[in-house]
Amino acid sequence: MTIKTVLRMGEPCLLLKAAPVEQFDTPELHALIEDLEDTMLHMSGAGIAAPQIGVSLRVVIFGKKTVPNQTEEDARNPRYPDADAVPYTVLINPVLSPIGSETEQDWEGCLSVPGMRGIVPRYVRLHYTGYDQFGNFIDRLVNGFHARVVQHEFDHLDGILYPMKINDLKYFGYTNVFFPNQDVQDE
Ligand code: NI
Repeated sequence: MTIKTVLRMGEPCLLLKAAPVEQFDTPELHALIEDLEDTMLHMSGAGIAAPQIGVSLRVVIFGKKTVPNQTEEDARNPRYPDADAVPYTVLINPVLSPIGSETEQDWEGCLSVPGMRGIVPRYVRLHYTGYDQFGNFIDRLVNGFHARVVQHEFDHLDGILYPMKINDLKYFGYTNVFFPNQDVQDE
């Protein structure tokens, strides 16, 4: 178990286009997933991408293991459409396709931009595919917060941080100024 240092905005590694994973179910890939999970849990993040710990590979993890004995079927058809229900997911070499053109604006944060929040437009509905660390295919239709998290994490793989996508910088600032009474997590 290793909690890694999360790189902050300004680090060149965060701006790279990450390389696809070529081999699944390897000790190196499992170690990377473990580091990402330990780091995300330690930082109370909603998601984290490999470039954020200095590994320029197309690997992200997100969501929380909040549903006991969660099955893959539950993950495909979440029974609880609230923000906490995003299933814990390892997503490698992801491919995203927006469904329709509808977008919505909502607050985001990022472990690489600590202490800040901004309002970012994202597609409401999303089809995404990819692989887990064992090479199993993942194919999901999602919306709302789940879709937002995947789009945010995917952007990290193309060197994009959420402040680059904010339409109106009036809505980018310090978390404890925008939300003085809330204990909110960083990503
Ligand atoms: Ni982020």
